[in-house]
Formats: sequence, C-alpha cells, structure tokens
Amino acid sequence: MTSKSLNTDQNQLLHQISRVSVADALKILTDSFPGQVTFSTSFSLEDQVITHFIQSKELEISIFTLDTGRLFAETYSTWSATSNKYGTKIRAFYPDNEALESFVSENGPNAFYESIANRKQCCYLRKVEPLKRALMGNAIWITGLRSGHSAERRGHDILEWDAANQVLKYNPLLAWTDQEIRDYILLNDIPYNALHDRGFVSIGCAPCTRAIRPGEDFRAGRWWWEESNKKECGLHSTN
Ligand code: ADX
Ligand code: SF4
Repeated sequence: MTSKSLNTDQNQLLHQISRVSVADALKILTDSFPGQVTFSTSFSLEDQVITHFIQSKELEISIFTLDTGRLFAETYSTWSATSNKYGTKIRAFYPDNEALESFVSENGPNAFYESIANRKQCCYLRKVEPLKRALMGNAIWITGLRSGHSAERRGHDILEWDAANQVLKYNPLLAWTDQEIRDYILLNDIPYNALHDRGFVSIGCAPCTRAIRPGEDFRAGRWWWEESNKKECGLHSTN
C-alpha cells in the first residue's frame, strides 16, 4: 500500500502500520514519535473506540477536544463519563475570545443559518483555528474519520499528509463499518453519547445537528439546511 501524499519514509511507515492491528499500529506510532502523537475527540462512536484503544493499552497519546461552546448537553455528559471511566484528562481547546466576540457581536448568535459564508466563518473560529493550535508541536494527528461517512471521505487514506496543519494524519478506523463500531462499543462497555439512541448519527454542534430518518445519509443531519453534498466544516480537507 502506498499513498501519493507521502514521502518514502512515510510510505514505509504506512506499510508497517497497515499490516498490524490498530492497537499495535498506535504503539508503532508512539515509539516512532514519542510525545508527538495526539488524538482529537468529538466523543463520536468512532472516537470512543479510539479512546478505548489508547487508554486500555496505556499509550502515550495526548487527547484533546475542540469545545465550540455550542455542543449538546449530552456531549458534555459523554466527555465526563469518558474521563471518569478511563481516569484520563482530555485537554479542551477554545475559540479565540476576541475573534469570536467580534463575530457574534456583528452577526448574532445564530448567523450560521443566514449564509454559507457565515457558517464557514463560525466553523473556522470555533473549530479550524483552535485545531491548528491543538496540533502545534505534534507529528501525528489521529482522527475517527471513516470512509462510510460520505463520498468525500472515501478520498482519505489511512495515513496521509495534512498540508494545512503540517502533520501526518492517521485515520485508523477508515475502513470500519458503522456496525463494527457499534458492536465494539457494546462488547467493551464503552460510554457513548445518549443522542445515538434517539436517531442522531453524526453529531456536531447542537444548532447544526439533527436526528436522521431511516434511509438518510450518515451526514444528512449535519448543516441539513445546506444543499451541498460536500458538507464539511474545514477540519478535514483532502489535499
Ligand atoms: S466534522 O468535520 O464534520 O465536524 P466529524 O464530526 O465527522 O467531523 O468527526 C470526524 C473526526 O474529526 C472525529 O473523529 C474527530 O477526530 C475530529 N473532530 C470533529 N469534531 C471535533 C471536535 N469538536 N473536537 C475534536 N475533534 C473533532
Ligand atoms: Fe458554528 Fe455550527 Fe460550525 Fe458549530 S457546526 S462551529 S455552531 S457553524
């Protein structure tokens, strides 16, 4: 397996990690980049599986979340339940105060419904810019992206170069199915967001996420008022 976005050494690393289990791949990465491996969690089902891998193997991987300030109460409860179960600290990153104060003062608290430009700016301020700060000093960024999320996400590789953030991005669950994730959560008694039992599938900020109906796409409940089939907030650009 090779990836176009990687140099020779990085392709060798990809070759190594694609032949072993996710837990072993995480160990290879922490041995190769001590103190420079970090994982971003939104407390999605996928992220909970990865947290479980990290904590049960006691891997030296820092965990952070981007607290947009607009998350569901249930997401904050999942955060607490996760910290309590695994005894781990999850570092929180927040939007830049001044920039957010000025955006909300100018455009109001729900500007994202008014235009795509406002929506993207809100995502930039609350997620994309804090992500840049969270990734600083790290060599590897682990995410819970899956190919099954959308056509757009089928364009990602298990290991890929993220030019926007200048890190190697590792997406260990890219090929897992939704059913495999759910089975793993139940089998291992991993805490999960209660909204998943109420028709919510892909969960982001509260004002921009709704439950989906049977047969709808995985990401249909995100920014549902926008027509585009490429609805992304900018965290995961394919290079
Ligand atoms: S998003 O770009 O549309 O918001 P999605 O919710 O599918 O992303 O999550 C995909 C991955 O992006 C997660 O597994 C996680 O690694 C990262 N991510 C998304 N939102 C956050 C967040 N608020 N904090 C930390 N990581 C996040
Ligand atoms: Fe803002 Fe909605 Fe993006 Fe959250 S998902 S950062 S509330 S536009």
